[in-house]
Amino acid sequence: MTQATHLIINGHYKTSLHCVSILDRGLAYGDGVFETMYLSNRCIPLWQYHYERLQYGLKRLHISLDTQLLKDSLQKLLKYSDPDGVIKLIVTRGQGGRGYSPDGVDNPMISIMFLPVSTKLIEDNANKAEQGVNVHRCIQTLPECVALSGIKTLNQLPYVLASQEVRQADCDEGLLCNDDGFVIEATARNIFCVNNGEIYTPQLNKCGVAGVIRRLLMEKLASRLSLNIHERPITMNELVAANEVFLSNGVTHIWPVKAFGKTRWQPGPITRKIQQSVEDYIASDCSLGFMEQM
Ligand SMILES: Cc1ncc(COP(=O)(O)O)c(C=O)c1O
Repeated sequence: MTQATHLIINGHYKTSLHCVSILDRGLAYGDGVFETMYLSNRCIPLWQYHYERLQYGLKRLHISLDTQLLKDSLQKLLKYSDPDGVIKLIVTRGQGGRGYSPDGVDNPMISIMFLPVSTKLIEDNANKAEQGVNVHRCIQTLPECVALSGIKTLNQLPYVLASQEVRQADCDEGLLCNDDGFVIEATARNIFCVNNGEIYTPQLNKCGVAGVIRRLLMEKLASRLSLNIHERPITMNELVAANEVFLSNGVTHIWPVKAFGKTRWQPGPITRKIQQSVEDYIASDCSLGFMEQM
């Protein structure tokens, strides 16, 4: 487990990581949202997408966001952190009393922490990006909830259970379906199948997290590569019959899938093109300086 080395809460640098109130509704009910972001050369690539998903999630939960405080907190954290690593941003509704109702609670907590990334982790990711990963089919399914689909709430228990299955199966990732057996995503990644040159990805209108790399591919990179991405339900049979399968995540980017049950793939030409274009885009996005985009 990687330990955070720097933490800012509501704009204040904390010397101890053990400083969140027991009354915080994020702890009591998962009443909040989070973002896990890649920090590269003191920039956060795809910041705009992270920020928009955060704002959208908070809007759905009716939690207000002090954007100036968020900006100040980020700037403060970046003074202490290494130039490269991972930033985890959590916004909760704040402290409240007993009961689910958030009535009268309006003191959100913005916590931002820096997590260093070890050389071993970087090498491990490079290896997975190159060789591909083994994916386990999880028994755990994703419950549907239209109001929460696409956003990253602090309620992630289906993914926690699924991750335990992945560990027990000695695999790198796990495939999650909805209760009707349609493929939705991996435990911490979005999924894409390639068939006859076309790319397919599940709709996330009832469950799943709409990832920033998924959005980048769908809104910008696919068309630049003259590729089409179709959002539609995907069955397990279609997945197994695909020519290529790959996974996306904002920190680890693109991983080709090399094994799922008895099915085997080689990282294919479209996956490689996508991988390269994500790396190129992220390198160029860094140079923009994310603060101007707020
Ligand atoms: C469940 C789930 N799906 C998809 C993703 C990919 O999202 P992103 O590309 O924003 O990292 C994540 C990221 O952690 C996730 O936890």
